[in-house]
Amino acid sequence: MMRVLSVLAVLAVGATAAFAQSAAIGQRKEILKSWGGAMKDPGAMAKGEAAFDLAKVQASLKTIAEGAPKLAGLFPDDSKTGGETKALPVIWEKKAEFLAIFTKIEADAKAAAVAIKDEASFKAEWPKIGANCGTCHKTFREQPK
Ligand code: HEC
Repeated sequence: MMRVLSVLAVLAVGATAAFAQSAAIGQRKEILKSWGGAMKDPGAMAKGEAAFDLAKVQASLKTIAEGAPKLAGLFPDDSKTGGETKALPVIWEKKAEFLAIFTKIEADAKAAAVAIKDEASFKAEWPKIGANCGTCHKTFREQPK
């Protein structure tokens, strides 16, 4: 009887851990998805496929600047696996390097928000933001198959 109870206790703890785990994974995916959305309009503007719109660009930069410090806290040790995460184990081996990219993209987004005043300054500044996405994904995210 004690044995059955302790097995049940272990199962209960496991279920709680799995729940806590998927919370961080789901939250970070939500913010990253919003970043994907934030890149869309300015991306089209940068390619000349949409008219330059300063308000939309500033809204995107705000989404990125505000999301970065939140994302930095959403990779706890218990979120290495589960929830169909594409986060690679190397994140936890090189945590400082990984977090530094979130600090950099936040600083770049804030600097761009000040520097971008017209289409010309937008075209000069915008690629710097997207470069951070690629830098991090290349090393720290499982490549889409
Ligand atoms: C410091 C690292 C880092 C930076 C910077 C970064 N990403 Fe990611 N991104 C990740 C990781 C890690 C994942 C996988 C998360 C997971 O599956 O748990 C991811 C996943 C995503 C996803 C998929 C989310 C989903 O629905 O599962 C999108 C979209 C995305 N990133 C867009 C962006 C964009 C756009 C930028 C730049 C504005 C960016 N990311 C910058 C690390 C980063």
